[in-house]
Amino acid sequence: MKKLCVIPGDGIGPEVVPVAVEAIKLLVPDLEVVHAQAGWACFQQTGCAVPERTLDLMRECGAGLFGAVQSPAHQVAGYRSAILTLRQQLGLSVNLRPVRSWPFISPKSGIDLMVLRENSEGLYVGREHMASPDKAIAERHISRQASELLAQRTAQVAQLRQARRITLVHKANVLPLTCGLFRDSCRAVLEAQGLGSVLDERLVDVAALQLIEQPESFDLVVTTNLFGDVLSDLASYWSGGLATAPSLNWGQGIALAEPVHGSAPDIAGSGRANPIAALLSAALLLRYHWELDDQASRLEGAVDDFLKESKGVDLGAQTTLRVSAGVLERIK
Ligand code: NAI
Ligand code: MG
Repeated sequence: MKKLCVIPGDGIGPEVVPVAVEAIKLLVPDLEVVHAQAGWACFQQTGCAVPERTLDLMRECGAGLFGAVQSPAHQVAGYRSAILTLRQQLGLSVNLRPVRSWPFISPKSGIDLMVLRENSEGLYVGREHMASPDKAIAERHISRQASELLAQRTAQVAQLRQARRITLVHKANVLPLTCGLFRDSCRAVLEAQGLGSVLDERLVDVAALQLIEQPESFDLVVTTNLFGDVLSDLASYWSGGLATAPSLNWGQGIALAEPVHGSAPDIAGSGRANPIAALLSAALLLRYHWELDDQASRLEGAVDDFLKESKGVDLGAQTTLRVSAGVLERIK
């Protein structure tokens, strides 16, 4: 029996997550669902953004679905973004972020790429300090171990989707120690796995330009935490924007699916939240973590059919409801 820990979070999280849970229930009939709390509202109520109980439930289930959290733009004593805590505490060290063309809503057809982002270190270790009142310093951590783990997952994904190209993205010309270690560690693993012939490299600035100029030329894009965060949001333009961008935080025997978007306070409660990113995140959990490829394809196929038939019309205040009904009906 599969167990799923559901963490809706803040803003539109609680609006889009139940749709994805319904989809998984249809595809995995013996699913057991448990609910847990995390985020800004949780912090305000309990003083803790990710309660111990949430971490325990996640570990017990081995699989989760997360909505989004709101984070204040200024520092709040004791608060750290819930999703960063979850990723670090649960060892969710790789983040898969696929981007593909969808009918009517994508600005261009023929795109099918995936950003594989290191998810536990880089600049996101969150070690900042003021060296003086006029100078702030952030540390960037890169380890051989985390880079190798990312490369091993990349090899696994490459095999599953018969990757034609794997692009390591870094900035080793300016950051030879951190980016150099990242590049060399990834390269060694991928070459040892027989993937040397499809492997290439790009500096991150050139990669950003080429993701705009020739997105269809990319397949797997493998990079560090901050670069992956930025490049995957940028690339999501090609799938139809953040409302369609899914992700999977992937650890050892544990995974947390999560739409790339945030809590979208500007539309929360208006019915406009599009659940497609959450639905496609559920498909990633099915395919990569539970290895239920057929079920993942059925879910993606239902999204594809729905988009074809609705011709990408703006559903306004009916978005959550209509997309939900349309996709779930096509799974049944
Ligand atoms: P956002 O992703 O929440 O919203 C950006 C824009 O995209 C907004 O105009 C929003 O209405 C739209 N949008 C996002 N998801 C949508 C959906 N499913 N359907 C329709 N429209 C959608 O990013 P923003 O505004 O920069 O951040 C808002 C809050 O979310 C902040 O507190 C931020 O810290 C947090 N955040 C959390 C993330 C997470 O939980 N992983 C990721 C990014 C931001
Ligand atoms: Mg982001």
